[in-house]
Amino acid sequence: MHLQLSLPALVAAVVLLLPSVAATACYANFNEAQFPHCSLIDNNFALHWAINNATSPASIVFGVDVNASAFSNPWVGLGISENGGMSGADLWILKKNASGSYVIQDSYALTAGYPIPDTHQDAQLLEGPQKKGDSNTVFTFSRPLDTCDQEDATIQSDFRHHIIWAFGESADSVAKHDVKNRGNTQLVLHPTKTPPPPFNKALYESIDIVMPSFHVPAQTTNYNCTHVALPFSTKRHVVAFEGISSFQGSLDLVHHIVMWACPKAPNATMGDVYECLPQPDDCQHITFVWAPGAGVTEYPSDAGFPAGPGDGNFLYYSLQVHYNNPTLVNDVVDQSGLRLYYTDKLRENDIGMLLLGDDSDDFVIPGNSPDFTSTRDGICPATCTNQFVTDLKVVFNFFHMHGLGYNMSTRVIRDGNEITPLGIRKHYDYHFQGSTVPIDPHAVIKRGDTLITKCTFIATDASHANRAANTTYGAGTDAEMCFNFLTYYPAMKGIGSCMQMSSSKTNNLAYCSSDHDPRVELIQKQYPNGTMKKESMQAMKDAGVLVNASIPVFVPLKEGLQCALTDQKASGVVEIGVSVVLFMVSLVYLL
Ligand SMILES: *[C@@H]1O[C@H](CO)[C@@H](O)[C@H](O)[C@H]1NC(C)=O
Ligand SMILES: *[C@@H]1O[C@H](CO)[C@@H](O)[C@H](O)[C@H]1NC(C)=O
Ligand SMILES: *[C@@H]1O[C@H](CO)[C@@H](O)[C@H](O)[C@H]1NC(C)=O
Ligand SMILES: *[C@@H]1O[C@H](CO)[C@@H](O)[C@H](O)[C@H]1NC(C)=O
Ligand SMILES: *[C@@H]1O[C@H](CO)[C@@H](O)[C@H](O)[C@H]1NC(C)=O
Ligand SMILES: *[C@@H]1O[C@H](CO)[C@@H](O)[C@H](O)[C@H]1NC(C)=O
Ligand SMILES: *[C@@H]1O[C@H](CO)[C@@H](O)[C@H](O)[C@H]1NC(C)=O
Ligand SMILES: *[C@@H]1O[C@H](CO)[C@@H](O)[C@H](O)[C@H]1NC(C)=O
Ligand SMILES: *[C@@H]1O[C@H](CO)[C@@H](O)[C@H](O)[C@H]1NC(C)=O
Repeated sequence: MHLQLSLPALVAAVVLLLPSVAATACYANFNEAQFPHCSLIDNNFALHWAINNATSPASIVFGVDVNASAFSNPWVGLGISENGGMSGADLWILKKNASGSYVIQDSYALTAGYPIPDTHQDAQLLEGPQKKGDSNTVFTFSRPLDTCDQEDATIQSDFRHHIIWAFGESADSVAKHDVKNRGNTQLVLHPTKTPPPPFNKALYESIDIVMPSFHVPAQTTNYNCTHVALPFSTKRHVVAFEGISSFQGSLDLVHHIVMWACPKAPNATMGDVYECLPQPDDCQHITFVWAPGAGVTEYPSDAGFPAGPGDGNFLYYSLQVHYNNPTLVNDVVDQSGLRLYYTDKLRENDIGMLLLGDDSDDFVIPGNSPDFTSTRDGICPATCTNQFVTDLKVVFNFFHMHGLGYNMSTRVIRDGNEITPLGIRKHYDYHFQGSTVPIDPHAVIKRGDTLITKCTFIATDASHANRAANTTYGAGTDAEMCFNFLTYYPAMKGIGSCMQMSSSKTNNLAYCSSDHDPRVELIQKQYPNGTMKKESMQAMKDAGVLVNASIPVFVPLKEGLQCALTDQKASGVVEIGVSVVLFMVSLVYLL
């Protein structure tokens, strides 16, 4: 069966036949004066909202209009997630409390399981719930933008938050939601400036890179890839990309799609299909990442990803689709993939990728130790960033660990002070990776900066199973990794990796060179017994490829300062001079 179903056409036909049926829509049951913002985040879910800065602290008011007619006594949940998953999400749930009154329960989730009520309840039901028409439930609720509660997410101005939603039966118990009635999207909840116009697809050419009619295996986890060569005879700039999923409605087998660039022609036939867990060595350069709900990812207007033939550009790719097929569907032939928007009017800058993190091989997470935590500092030292020819503008972080990954961050030290981190993931979820914009939208990496990419691992995996075996470093999902694949511009030539290489061989040095796996280069330069050849080591040091990975003495950012000072501000103690520091500190809290 080919799943290119024409569902929108079916829906349109039904609407034409039954014009009296009102669909869920923005401003059907709320007005624009009350709620300046609205997004139809699903055919059955219209989310309206307003920022109320007359309250102290400023707050957000939501107006929810949801078609929950499939349930007689529905609960409705909405929340902010770090990257689209439940893990670590801040949730607001309309439900009934023990005495049968509707409330908004401020909650959080550590896993994709039952949400935990917050110790401090910060959300308040204002009106409703009320039935509108035959099918819709409407209600309004509010919450401060920043609650200063560690169990909450802060709603940040001009930041594209991941929003998750769900509804189901019943309001008394909040049972596990049916897969049909949940989803995620991305919204700027608190815009302070006119947002850039939406991406104008009509201005660009596009190309679809899809799986060649692939019969999805009837097993839960499938990582399948196909090799592709772009049909470009000269260099182009990819300016944006989006996912193409063959699936509609409740059957969505596509978990995520990643296009990996291959620096050289891979030793493979184009259009082949192969298993790619782990991703093969010759196509290890993450370029485009998409997951359902992610929409169009657009590069800044003065930069494009260099696609096509020629030095420094990428012509060959491996398209990877992760199919999640828990119901073991057996009759699906898929053509999902990515649509790349490109131009031959080359922009001023090439987009580049810099690999940060920890490529150490002396790393073991002991088996059978559920309480174990291990923290790795992957240093990209000043001895490497001093070799950068220019400041790098950071476009996206892409944090990557495997199943034991717990949290992760990339922090920045400049001139002896820690400044706003590039990114923080408090609750890493292997199933929701993907690119995230830096915390400071104007983040740059300067020559002389030290970057610390820190990963924390626990010995229980994403399904909360205690791992019996020892876990070491490696590409397989039974091993662990600690990488931040950073998208930046302008692209540098010659430096694709800046990461820690602590091991007995390299004696706590960092690798500062091409985007190839540094390990390959090192292995070529060692004796069969594994010791590095002295002369190779010296040559690599002389060339600035192996550099000292020490962390300078620095003043760390203090977490929690902002809210402490907000409290003091109420009693009039704070001076204005610290506001810049406060602003930066507040960002630590955001994710
Ligand atoms: C509400 O959802 C049900 C399915 O749960 C659907 O049959 C109905 O058409 C929807 N109504 C509106 C107004 O969208
Ligand atoms: C408060 O909100 C209004 C309307 O959104 C806006 O015009 C005004 O600038 C805001 N004031 C502050 C201090 O943010
Ligand atoms: C339920 O909510 C109502 C309204 O907020 C409140 O008056 C009542 O005390 C709550 N009951 C419980 C058991 O929390
Ligand atoms: C390319 O792959 C083929 C088949 O797997 C193999 O026989 C050949 O040695 C490979 N060539 C290189 C250069 O790796
Ligand atoms: C697809 O991936 C699954 C598991 O990752 C593997 O078992 C299967 O053989 C793959 N099929 C092809 C054609 O690559
Ligand atoms: C990661 O987890 C460790 C252990 O619980 C904790 O000490 C650390 O603060 C966390 N880091 C982040 C960025 O959340
Ligand atoms: C794990 O590593 C420890 C120490 O390196 C070793 O003693 C132990 O036998 C290993 N356990 C397994 C299951 O391999
Ligand atoms: C490894 O081999 C080299 C060259 O044969 C030798 O010089 C070195 O001492 C050996 N190292 C160890 C730890 O055996
Ligand atoms: C790295 O630099 C530090 C501080 O300058 C120094 O103490 C250390 O010996 C150096 N390490 C190596 C391996 O060169």
